[in-house]
Amino acid sequence: MKISIIGTGYVGSVTGICFAEMGHQIFFVDIDQTKLNAINSGKSPVFEPGLDDLLVKNRNKVSTTTDISEAVHQTDLTMICVGTPQKTDGSSDLRFIIDAAHAIGKALIKDRKYHTVIVKSTVLPGTTNNVVQPILEEESGKEATVNFGIGSNPEFLKEGSAVQDFFHTDRIVIGVNDPKTKKTLDDLYEPFRAPIFATDIKTAEMIKYVSNAFLATKISFANEIGNLCKMNGIDTYEVFRGVGMDSRINPHFFRSGIGFGGSCFPKDIQALISFAESQGIETRILKAVIKTNDDQPQKLITLLKRHINIKGRKIGILGLSFKPDTDDIRESRAIPVVLSLLEEGAQILAYDPMAMPEFVKIFPQISYAKSSKEVLETDALMIITEWNEFFDLDYREKIVIDGRKVNKAEREARIYEGICW
Ligand code: UGA
Repeated sequence: MKISIIGTGYVGSVTGICFAEMGHQIFFVDIDQTKLNAINSGKSPVFEPGLDDLLVKNRNKVSTTTDISEAVHQTDLTMICVGTPQKTDGSSDLRFIIDAAHAIGKALIKDRKYHTVIVKSTVLPGTTNNVVQPILEEESGKEATVNFGIGSNPEFLKEGSAVQDFFHTDRIVIGVNDPKTKKTLDDLYEPFRAPIFATDIKTAEMIKYVSNAFLATKISFANEIGNLCKMNGIDTYEVFRGVGMDSRINPHFFRSGIGFGGSCFPKDIQALISFAESQGIETRILKAVIKTNDDQPQKLITLLKRHINIKGRKIGILGLSFKPDTDDIRESRAIPVVLSLLEEGAQILAYDPMAMPEFVKIFPQISYAKSSKEVLETDALMIITEWNEFFDLDYREKIVIDGRKVNKAEREARIYEGICW
């Protein structure tokens, strides 16, 4: 199949390159020529383990352009993968989706075949039908499901393991209102040998939000229980191993710690809250999930204060990205921790295998180490992200305040406090 991928951010790059690996011909579109140049030189615009290798392997199946109409005319299927950033009131900013829809609609005027337009970006229920579809119809003068196809196909990829997740997914969700679009997506996903859950468009859009909201709820729940376990000398990890054996519950996403960050959970839950409140619906659980998450980093600071007077002391920070194997620092728990430490008058020496170039842009005033070992030479250490290399450090004689359960630190440190254990 020939596929246009609009937007070469995280979702677009992973989706396009992985579909190329599946044998499809990919046309990447972006307004940012530097991202397209990166693709042309065999480098993915986003860091994701294994992605560059796949791109280089499939270079002959990948083209780039800044012109949406060129891509639409050369392909059968267009996937909108642009970002939906958060507005100050928590709702999502649809600017990029709307711009893309206008350009695709114009391109459809001259398109003689039945072109299918799929929204892969995370959008609130109703967006594809009430925002994207009317623009496409107005610009093209054509009718959705009669002259062109429209649908939703949310993604469930995790940063750091997106390539693996793409090829080994639990399920594929497609939202469609017409049989031709359904057939196109069924054909596209048939080789994956994963269950395809086909539903209407707004339900598919809702499934994406509810999946993320539920996973975040599991984490905040595990953190609340973890805080209680710590007070009572109970190992919360052991508790959730036992709890997770119940197949109704399952063991995943119960890793207690400093909380969730990233570009998805915080933003998507906030958007779901705004969506509900705009309709007069209370979201007590979702708000508590956010509140619990916001409180966790502060707990780490409180634990540190039990053992050290922070003012003027040199505090080592291990990990700045929102999770391991990514350079992404969006909503990283390191941000509130560093802010509080600065307020308390600490000197900070931080290390992250990948995220320092990003972190220095927002915190130029702290010091950065060349290696994780260098961070050990501080008055106390705080573990924010569980990068693999932190499991091999020599923590003997150190004070360690751990937000991520690094066992070696727990065994070796002179003074050790886990956030929930
Ligand atoms: C998340 C979802 O897991 C994906 O399914 C979804 O596609 C993606 O959002 C998205 O909407 O695009 P991601 O944000 O990349 O993926 O990363 P996760 O592995 O889910 O981790 C999110 C945060 O939760 C991280 O800060 C992580 O450290 C934290 N976390 C995760 C915990 O604190 N405990 C856990 O048990 C699991």
